[in-house]
Amino acid sequence: MSDILKIGVLVSGSGSNLQAIIDRIEDGTLTAKVACVISNKADAYALERAKRHGIATHVLDHRSHAGREAYDAALVELLRSHGVQLVVLAGFMRIVTPVLLEAFPHAVMNIHPALLPAFPGLHAQHQSLQYGVKITGCTVHFVDEGTDTGPIIIQAAVPVMEDDTEDSLSARIQVEEHRIYPEAVRLFADGRLTINGRRVVIAPLEP
Ligand code: GAR
Repeated sequence: MSDILKIGVLVSGSGSNLQAIIDRIEDGTLTAKVACVISNKADAYALERAKRHGIATHVLDHRSHAGREAYDAALVELLRSHGVQLVVLAGFMRIVTPVLLEAFPHAVMNIHPALLPAFPGLHAQHQSLQYGVKITGCTVHFVDEGTDTGPIIIQAAVPVMEDDTEDSLSARIQVEEHRIYPEAVRLFADGRLTINGRRVVIAPLEP
């Protein structure tokens, strides 16, 4: 096995987080390789981004599988066929099952547009505005069997402005997402993350 971490990115939409990871790889900040990008939607713009960078893409339509486990088994097969070591969920709007998690133990990450455990699930930015919080943000976490409940790797705070709409708030959160997701992958690639119960311990850089 080569010593460059191979990542598989799962997407459903625009893929701006995928792009941020690709950009950090290309500018040399992150030593990793995007081995494949898999979408459950054929029209996800993320697929165009991947192709532009010569990355293998696949569309795996959830409607053509018998259930969540069967879908995840197909995902595992594809990811393994590319030698993937870390699975990165980047706007992948599906709940994953133990079939995926057991195939990649402690090696599935997700990004969520809120400061977990606040506002898990769908439409986190809308939930934040409705609740009236003054600070929100984003969270990169390891995925466990719950919805947005896994051990937290990095978070970034984002202020909510008086005149924010869901779109303006989402855009401000995404600036931080694009900073912290590649950083979390870098920490993983450098072997600096240890999961200790609910806590993820980040080892200091070797002197
Ligand atoms: C991101 O903002 C991510 O936090 C969110 O989807 C967006 C995907 O954007 N994920 C969730 O809401 C997961 N529950 P992208 O396709 O441009 O990376």
